[in-house]
Amino acid sequence: MSERRESPAGRVRGRLRLGVNIDHVATVRNARGTPFPDPVRAALLAEEAGADGITAHLREDRRHISDEDIARLSETLTLPLNLEMAATTEMQEIALRHRPHAVCLVPEKREERTTEGGLDVLAEEARLSAFIAPLAEAGCRVSLFVNPEADQIEAAKRVGAAVVELHTGGYCDAHHEGRLADRDRELARIRNAARHADAIGLEVHAGHGLTYDTVGPIAALPEIVELNIGHFLVGEAIFVGLAEAIREMRRRMDAARGV
Ligand code: PXP
Repeated sequence: MSERRESPAGRVRGRLRLGVNIDHVATVRNARGTPFPDPVRAALLAEEAGADGITAHLREDRRHISDEDIARLSETLTLPLNLEMAATTEMQEIALRHRPHAVCLVPEKREERTTEGGLDVLAEEARLSAFIAPLAEAGCRVSLFVNPEADQIEAAKRVGAAVVELHTGGYCDAHHEGRLADRDRELARIRNAARHADAIGLEVHAGHGLTYDTVGPIAALPEIVELNIGHFLVGEAIFVGLAEAIREMRRRMDAARGV
């Protein structure tokens, strides 16, 4: 049994969930146009190794996860699937067809290497409200990937999101580039954003760029209930195997959380 902790907003917190993002298993597969390595096999292994959910980003350019991967994940997984996608009509149709447990809306630019910033919810409130409503009605928990900024979080609440996922990329980049004052400033922004989102009734997730070295201070924030981690785990799998990489991440999350 995991120990329970209280957030400043007073809600009782359970164990932090780990969503394993399997996009880059598909990146390696697509580099050669073979059917392997199979992201669905990675998802099943992740489940055995203690993942609490599977995350997959169906990008508009299909550079890693494919439509068929999403169909197979939807049929095969017993763990909850978190489908990351852009807020486009095409993606909405796909989500409504598969009805994943969760849909995380992210901004997408074709030329970017990865999701570079959070959604500008404030700039598109009306469009996002209309986009989210049918997904929520279909039973998907809708999450918005946002920078750790109070005004974006408040806008996420207004447009009907159940969850915000706080972008940890700035914090992780600053850490790995040795900009320690920036890292600490970014961490403080994430801490304040998590408190604020929790206080206004949003479920709080976090992710992007997290590694063994950066996960601890984020996992220690009591308002955060889920982390989504991919690139580092798939890279580490080259050296220790995916299951061991996930188990070690889990250990570090639990240690930071004090469970
Ligand atoms: N959360 C969101 C919304 C993302 O877009 C990504 C990257 O696809 C992640 C988490 C995982 O980031 P990483 O692969 O760097 O761990």
